[in-house]
Amino acid sequence: TLRAMTKQDMAGKRVLVNLGPTREPWDAVRYLSNASSGTMGGAVAVAAWLRGAEVTVVTGPVSLWLPAAISRQCVTTAQEMFTACTDLWPGMDMACLTAAVADYRPKPYGERKFKKASAEAGLNIELLPNPDILKALGACKLAGQTLVGFAAESHDLETHARAKLKAKNLDLIVANSIVGEGGAFDSPVNAVTVIGSDGRLETWPSLPKPEVAWRIWDIVSNP
Ligand code: CTP
Ligand code: CA
Repeated sequence: TLRAMTKQDMAGKRVLVNLGPTREPWDAVRYLSNASSGTMGGAVAVAAWLRGAEVTVVTGPVSLWLPAAISRQCVTTAQEMFTACTDLWPGMDMACLTAAVADYRPKPYGERKFKKASAEAGLNIELLPNPDILKALGACKLAGQTLVGFAAESHDLETHARAKLKAKNLDLIVANSIVGEGGAFDSPVNAVTVIGSDGRLETWPSLPKPEVAWRIWDIVSNP
């Protein structure tokens, strides 16, 4: 198999990856979500597994193939993803959080389907803040644990990515621009800037997501 042919430089490492969107219900049939396909996270999980790691994936609603040897916990909402990830983190050596977590969830309407008032009237839906999963893991990170985050930015990418690296106590942040050619959401390629807590700053050309994933683990596993 491919795994047997790959250098096992992550052997024995327990790795947590989250991926995909979260889905935040409003009424009986409607929800708030985003276009994340989980492709980047899937590539990160498979790369770690190929290199010998023991990989656990916490996944939002996506249709994604993963090797059966990767254990998978399926969740829907950001709150469920938060609980799954914070429960798993103390037993992990590394985590790479790629999920496009919804920053807000609608204040629930209830069990029923909302009936529109009239064809002309607008509607305001109140949003409540969701917990920041990555920040929570960073806040309780122990010596020996490595935490990698992603960042999606439309402007001032480096400034915002650096702020997230620091605020969330990360070892590495992988920032992608969501505008222009680079790819990111729902794309097979990604153009990223990688910033490390060690001062590393690298901008990579647009690469297939499996190649981006491989390079992330190159940095983390061979510092
Ligand atoms: N993230 C998270 N929990 C959230 C929001 C984000 O764990 N509630 C994680 C993402 O998985 C990603 C990183 O934080 O690894 C950055 O996400 P991003 O949306 O770029 O940044 P935010 O901190 O949410 O800030 P903003 O959306 O305002 O740029
Ligand atoms: Ca966000």
